[in-house]
Amino acid sequence: MERTDAVALDAADPLASFRDAFVIADADLIYLDGNSLGRLPVHTAEAMAAAIDIEWGDGLVRSWHEWIDLPQAIGDAIAPLIGAHSGEVLVTDQTSVNLFKLASAALNSTGRRDIVTDAANFPSDLYVLRSVADRAGGRLRTVESDPVGGVGPSDLAPALDDEVGVVSLSHVAFKSGALADMGEISAMVASAGALPLWDLSHSVGAVPIELARTGASLAVGCTYKYLNGGPGAPAFLYVREDLQEALATPIPGWFGHADMFGFAPTYLPAPGIRRFASGTPPIISLRGVQHGVAETARAGMEAIRTKSIALTELLIARADARLTTFDCSIGTPRRPAQRGSHVAIRHLDAYRLTQALIDRNVVPDFRAPDVIRLGVAPLYTRYVDVYDAIETLADILETGAHEAYPAARGSVT
Ligand SMILES: Cc1ncc(COP(=O)(O)O)c(C=O)c1O
Repeated sequence: MERTDAVALDAADPLASFRDAFVIADADLIYLDGNSLGRLPVHTAEAMAAAIDIEWGDGLVRSWHEWIDLPQAIGDAIAPLIGAHSGEVLVTDQTSVNLFKLASAALNSTGRRDIVTDAANFPSDLYVLRSVADRAGGRLRTVESDPVGGVGPSDLAPALDDEVGVVSLSHVAFKSGALADMGEISAMVASAGALPLWDLSHSVGAVPIELARTGASLAVGCTYKYLNGGPGAPAFLYVREDLQEALATPIPGWFGHADMFGFAPTYLPAPGIRRFASGTPPIISLRGVQHGVAETARAGMEAIRTKSIALTELLIARADARLTTFDCSIGTPRRPAQRGSHVAIRHLDAYRLTQALIDRNVVPDFRAPDVIRLGVAPLYTRYVDVYDAIETLADILETGAHEAYPAARGSVT
């Protein structure tokens, strides 16, 4: 394959025009970290300016009449992207906090004490789930999974018994990019009498998700990755409608009260998904989430997935062609149906290679100990970006340019 072939793929790309919906401050930058922090949508910059100048600056407290329902309204906009119904998704807090709330509420509702997860799950999830299990007097059981292939039903089966109330997993693994079989695992967990709780952070906006159809009960996820909501944008939580009344949040704040302006001294949960809210929502950040979600919906999850697969296929093919002689290996499943929208390239010197790439205007990220993570975001990543990124990495490896960089990890990778 030649570079001109990648250029031709971009020319024929039905999603190509979506790149114009994002701020591209440096046209030469090859940004392959949208799985960590998505790009800024053009309309978001305008919407946040209006939220500050008009809604806050002019409207002041009167704007709460518009703001009060935003967490549910944006949740309703996310719902179709994840196969949920209106009234089942709330945008609130961080993913870690939402995981704590839902895992605690779910475990409590089952009368069981233990939680099962994958040892390779995102560390924040491990910390939170261990804390929830400890507080319930139980323990977090971690199962080992294939470092490339990810977690599957056979890894989980031996860990399930009648003490396990919650099984919490990432839909797409943060390091390998492996995509778990949500349907098969959710069914298996439910038949063991436990509740499945999915972390959708690395799949929402990149992979079509069918929460209702696959029988998933609960989920959380980030909005700042493929949904392009902005740094620290509030996360979302999903609770299937028939479970909502049975679950009690462990952080019962006034925004989740049935009559928040009644100021009653005792807590009475609101009906529906709002009962999982706690404190005042971050309105300016919420305004930032709206347009990223809208651009995703406009493109459609099927078209996004089709391009995501084509981009990761190209990435793996180019890595096979150019990098294998340099002791690189692919740390992501090769079958498209088993991966999300990033590819892990493994190399013992991954950290120094990542630094050298960034200095050449190619931005992936590094995940210890040996992964260069290259994320493709179909709304703005081009085929030629993927082609050029691998050529740049091959050139660095050929010349040994990375050897000039420090091996000690910096504070942000
Ligand atoms: C899979 C996964 N879960 C949870 C988190 C944590 O999200 P938050 O910082 O919103 O708590 C991240 C952050 O990158 C993540 O990748």
